[in-house]
Amino acid sequence: MTSGLYTGPLLVLLCLLHASEEACPSICLCVSDTVSCSSSGLTKLPVSLPSFSVTLDLSHNHLSWLGAASFNRMPRLENLRLAHNQLSSLGYGVFTNASGLRNLDLSSNKLHMVEQHYFQGLWRLEELLLYNNKIAQVEAGTLSGLSSLKKAYFSLNQITHFPFFSIRDHSHPFLTMLDLSSNRMTRLPWEDVKALPGLVQRGLYLHNNSLLCDCSMYSVFWHWDLRGYDSLKDFTDEHICTIYGDPRAPIRFLRHNRFFHNCTVEKAVSQPVTVFLSNVLVSEGQRVRLDCQTSLSSTDLSFTWLSPSKGYINQASINDTLISLFPNGTLEIQAAKVNDSGLYVCTAVDIKQALNATREVNVTVVLPAAETFNTGYTTLLGCVVTMVFILMYLYLTPCRCSCCKQPKHPVIPIATYDPSTLTSVFSQSSRDQPKIQANKHVAFMEPMMRDAGTEWTPES
Ligand SMILES: *[C@@H]1O[C@H](CO)[C@@H](O)[C@H](O)[C@H]1NC(C)=O
Ligand SMILES: *[C@@H]1O[C@H](CO)[C@@H](O)[C@H](O)[C@H]1NC(C)=O
Ligand SMILES: *[C@@H]1O[C@H](CO)[C@@H](O)[C@H](O)[C@H]1NC(C)=O
Ligand SMILES: *[C@@H]1O[C@H](CO)[C@@H](O)[C@H](O)[C@H]1NC(C)=O
Ligand SMILES: *[C@@H]1O[C@H](CO)[C@@H](O)[C@H](O)[C@H]1NC(C)=O
Ligand SMILES: *[C@@H]1O[C@H](CO)[C@@H](O)[C@H](O)[C@H]1NC(C)=O
Ligand SMILES: *[C@@H]1O[C@H](CO)[C@@H](O)[C@H](O)[C@H]1NC(C)=O
Ligand SMILES: *[C@@H]1O[C@H](CO)[C@@H](O)[C@H](O)[C@H]1NC(C)=O
Repeated sequence: MTSGLYTGPLLVLLCLLHASEEACPSICLCVSDTVSCSSSGLTKLPVSLPSFSVTLDLSHNHLSWLGAASFNRMPRLENLRLAHNQLSSLGYGVFTNASGLRNLDLSSNKLHMVEQHYFQGLWRLEELLLYNNKIAQVEAGTLSGLSSLKKAYFSLNQITHFPFFSIRDHSHPFLTMLDLSSNRMTRLPWEDVKALPGLVQRGLYLHNNSLLCDCSMYSVFWHWDLRGYDSLKDFTDEHICTIYGDPRAPIRFLRHNRFFHNCTVEKAVSQPVTVFLSNVLVSEGQRVRLDCQTSLSSTDLSFTWLSPSKGYINQASINDTLISLFPNGTLEIQAAKVNDSGLYVCTAVDIKQALNATREVNVTVVLPAAETFNTGYTTLLGCVVTMVFILMYLYLTPCRCSCCKQPKHPVIPIATYDPSTLTSVFSQSSRDQPKIQANKHVAFMEPMMRDAGTEWTPES
């Protein structure tokens, strides 16, 4: 009984002590795992940034320099927003020990070059935003090691050369968006571009550059157009090239192809390339069969599949009893996993006639029922629930106790919540929702959300 009376305040004291260690810089706003110091007039980083933050927003400030290992005390950092600052370069080791980063927004700064060392060690990085800088050069090794990269935005810069050769099937298996639109590229290394993984070609944006009209360029775009890529469909009129580099006579080459009549591309490729795109939706654990029916009718075809999770699959490389490739090209996955989702590309090759055809299947594997929560969501939920309990404890419990004089054992939520009880806790917290919103402690979420809305508008 007495011990119950003492442990409550003691724990709160411990909590407060712990909290003061992790104080939110006075200029910033901290809520659960998010720290926002945006539009605060910062010229350098706040001295002690809380180590718990997953999202750190430093956008709309005057930062012009970041020291080495600036974020090494933040082991959980995943989202770093540095848009709209004055950064003109990044020194060595800025992101040392920040290898948990998934989203890095450096858009609308003054970077004039992307050096090889900038993103070293960020092997978890999924989204890299560099649009609207002054980048003229992207060094060759910049993207190597970024093996989780999904989307990279380089639009609205002054790039003349890009290291396409550094992006290969196994170096960037998840890359599906590479935005190089609105730059200053005149000649592209078309052989390197054609060797890009299929998914990268599908998500490559090159409109509004200063391309020179020639047959090798036209041939590449002709193929992409045939495959119906969105990057071409959505920006048909922005795909321009100039003859002999004369900017006064830009040609919208996806609309007007008479300048390319003498190119041999169409004759050479008019029969073989046929692309089908179909969608397959299965539940986890189900068997999936993807067929590779193409326009090729020969009985002597060899088939290769490119799978998002397992790379190339052909008869020789099959080394997995859970996957089979039939002689007719059908790929069978015994028990689909969520991880198996993505775009599968089958290439059928008729060696005798030197003809190729592709078939693409977009596979989406869903969990059987809505029983599982996304882990990021549950973490956030845990934080919200903990906060609600702390607020309730701090503001409500003393009153109730003094009024009713009931020796009630206080419930103090420590971070050890049981996932199995999460659903019931969740329903309780959603009932408390209106109360939280009326509370001034959470009012600062509003400007942050507005900010996020303007910050993360996709640029392409
Ligand atoms: C990075 O982390 C490692 C181990 O976690 C530590 O030994 C090292 O000192 C850290 N580096 C810096 C620059 O903080
Ligand atoms: C094309 O690029 C230039 C800069 O290179 C930019 O100012 C302009 O807004 C872009 N136009 C479109 C339609 O994206
Ligand atoms: C195509 O070739 C013909 C004959 O070689 C030539 O007269 C014509 O000007 C060429 N057209 C273009 C657009 O280069
Ligand atoms: C089969 O897979 C194992 C492990 O995944 C690997 O060590 C082995 O080299 C593979 N064999 C072939 C023939 O690819
Ligand atoms: C390919 O072969 C498999 C196994 O023999 C069969 O189940 C499948 O229906 C065939 N696919 C096509 C498109 O004929
Ligand atoms: C998905 O793949 C990752 C790494 O490839 C693995 O760690 C994870 O366990 C997989 N998840 C499932 C549900 O199979
Ligand atoms: C056909 O595919 C093979 C192997 O995938 C490749 O080596 C060859 O260059 C392709 N041919 C054409 C015309 O695309
Ligand atoms: C594949 O399907 C998913 C879900 O339906 C969709 O989000 C994605 O954009 C599709 N991908 C392609 C390349 O069509």
